[in-house]
Amino acid sequence: MSNPRPRIGIVGHGLIGSYVYEQITTRPELGLDAAFVHDQMPERVAGLPVEVVLDDLEDFARRSPDMVAEFAHPSVTADHGARFLRHTDYLPLSVTAFADAEVERTLLDTARAHGTRLYIPHGAVVGLEAIGEGRDQWEEVKMVMRKNPANIDFSAHPELAAEDITTDTVLYDGPTRGLCGLFPRNVNAHAALALGGIGFDRTRSVFIAVTEGGVSDIEITARSPAAVLTIRRVSPMKGVSGIFTLLSVLSSVVKAKGSPAGLHLV
Ligand SMILES: NC(=O)c1ccc[n+]([C@@H]2O[C@H](COP(=O)([O-])OP(=O)(O)OC[C@H]3O[C@@H](n4cnc5c(N)ncnc54)[C@H](O)[C@@H]3O)[C@@H](O)[C@H]2O)c1
Repeated sequence: MSNPRPRIGIVGHGLIGSYVYEQITTRPELGLDAAFVHDQMPERVAGLPVEVVLDDLEDFARRSPDMVAEFAHPSVTADHGARFLRHTDYLPLSVTAFADAEVERTLLDTARAHGTRLYIPHGAVVGLEAIGEGRDQWEEVKMVMRKNPANIDFSAHPELAAEDITTDTVLYDGPTRGLCGLFPRNVNAHAALALGGIGFDRTRSVFIAVTEGGVSDIEITARSPAAVLTIRRVSPMKGVSGIFTLLSVLSSVVKAKGSPAGLHLV
């Protein structure tokens, strides 16, 4: 018999992971329980009940999770994703991991072979389900993302620094696959669009550093002979943008596994 309250295993207890843990353990109406919380930094889980903390991720299956959720780093998917999917469902948030074609193929093959599910949270991509529904139709899917250089992580680019960018600058224009390794912490939305739509090679990504304003501006265009879809999301990089990411991620976890009574968008 299936567990009446699905148990979520959480990898990464930082900003997002700690929010999801706190929500599912304090709001019984969400219908979820915590199977474990794992973080590579022991101090990040120091305040949690000892029975919840999982020290060694190799032992995850002993906690019988109904889904593992990653809120840590893309390397978790490359290193452990297939093992998770041999036992249970998996929801990774650091979806730039899938720009590695081998990782994408291995995880999808494993899920099919073991009858488990890979859940891709839509994150900042408003309307991702519509992009997915039209997957076989789109001739072009493009995302243009504009961010202030101060909000871009240049750590993979020692030759570039935010202060050096004094005019609006196109940092990348090409297939999404090539962008993910260049700015892995900033472009999960591009990767989610590619995964949910027509793939990392056919999706076009444009990433622009804009010097005026502190907003994240995401514009998606999808074209087919039957329809043109245009979606734009503009959000401040401080304040409410944080809460919108948290709410979006929690909603994806609950949609995947929870069973709250009441209204459901499908
Ligand atoms: N898909 C999206 O739209 C989207 C949106 C926001 C964040 N993200 C991604 O989600 C992840 C979490 O974001 P956050 O803001 O909570 O980050 P954070 O830095 O606040 O927290 C990450 C936590 O994971 C832990 N961690 C890192 N690597 C680990 C590993 N290999 N094994 C175990 N623990 C590890 C860290 O110690 C830290 O406690 C990031 O990779 C981020 O890029 C994706």
